[in-house]
Amino acid sequence: MNEIIKVFNSRNLLSDFFAKEILKKLDLIDEGNFLSIAFSGGSTPKNVFEFISSNYKDKIPWERIKIFWSDERCVPPDDDESNYKMAFDSLIKNISIPEENIFRIFGETDPSEEEMRYKFVLKGNIPLINKIPSFDIMMLGLGDDGHTASIFPNNISLFNSDEICLNTKHPESGQERITLTGKVINNSKNIYFFVTGKKKSKIVKEILNEDNSNKIYPASLVEPTNGNLYWLLDKGAALGLKNIRNEK
Ligand code: 6PG
Repeated sequence: MNEIIKVFNSRNLLSDFFAKEILKKLDLIDEGNFLSIAFSGGSTPKNVFEFISSNYKDKIPWERIKIFWSDERCVPPDDDESNYKMAFDSLIKNISIPEENIFRIFGETDPSEEEMRYKFVLKGNIPLINKIPSFDIMMLGLGDDGHTASIFPNNISLFNSDEICLNTKHPESGQERITLTGKVINNSKNIYFFVTGKKKSKIVKEILNEDNSNKIYPASLVEPTNGNLYWLLDKGAALGLKNIRNEK
């Protein structure tokens, strides 16, 4: 695993770096092939989508990109809780991407049925490495409790499930979720954590601290088998880290 920690002076600089990463990874893809991206929910990914919508909507060849999700709330696609709706409102409605390139999780259907359906969607539309779907880009957020995607500390064993996609529940609200598991997350070529804000500095420090005495969180299990792991942070989230150079 190649781990890269980048601290940005603003969310816009963080977002611009990620937009350029998409273009760089596209350059590595043979003409005629697709770049697969798993979108995440969360406030920082929302800012990233809004920035890309304003500054890169005509610079990225969206017809060469397939969009999936790393997790979804089991609600209709027009519900304000929906990760799909967040991405649609902040980016997708503003870009020219073919409908057939968008593979949303059907939050409106029975969760156990959707868990099965999405597994086949992933296996049928993403190249396999070791018989497991391998995303070119996996976007992840980080909760204050160390959760990522919809794998929470109270159910951390889901991360190492034999399944690639599971129905689970939010520990407090009980909200049904569909989430990718560590099997497919860690099979990604490039994983990007998007973490901003001072309130995340404690969990970021615990997960990234050097002595590895950190409590095990779902996010600390994210270790791409053969890929790159990027931590894209702002100064607030990186407050607890030492010897980190800010990106200009
Ligand atoms: C979700 C997200 C979740 C999110 C984190 C961080 O469906 O809620 O996938 O994993 O990324 O909770 O969210 P914030 O960046 O808003 O704190």
